[in-house]
Amino acid sequence: MQISKYSLIGDENIKKLVHDFYLEIRKDELLLPMYNNDLEGAEQRLYLFMAQYLGGPALYNEKRGHPRLKKRHAPFRVDEEAKKHWLENMRTALDKSAIPAVHKDYLWDYFQQTGEFLKNA
Ligand code: HEM
Repeated sequence: MQISKYSLIGDENIKKLVHDFYLEIRKDELLLPMYNNDLEGAEQRLYLFMAQYLGGPALYNEKRGHPRLKKRHAPFRVDEEAKKHWLENMRTALDKSAIPAVHKDYLWDYFQQTGEFLKNA
């Protein structure tokens, strides 16, 4: 059996990464208005999604159904500029994180690819 990335990275590290990401979003004038004053809800959704994506408990699906990320991002203008901001905020959070470098690299690749995939403008 293979040990999940969720176990290797650790729940607390995932939680803190997502929390630190939203600390950056609070300072981001382009992205902040998209989150409609529900940063705590958004933080919870991204945390549950990441935990599930990395092989942890499937609580995101239980609460939200299938992720369908492209569809869920359709209401927002995700252009190159928005992607750049999102990734910069995540980079700052990753740089503060205690996650081992090899997993940070994995996460960074995943965020870059998904950010590109989610572009809709
Ligand atoms: C490329 C730039 C991106 C922008 C501008 C963006 C913006 C947003 C916004 C405004 C929301 C709604 C917040 C909420 O949940 O209420 C959201 C939700 C979400 N985003 Fe992104 N996002 C981006 C990239 C990503 C990436 C790379 C991921 C992959 C990890 C991701 C995963 C999610 C998830 C899981 C949700 C919650 C969906 C739900 O259950 O409704 N996003 N995003």
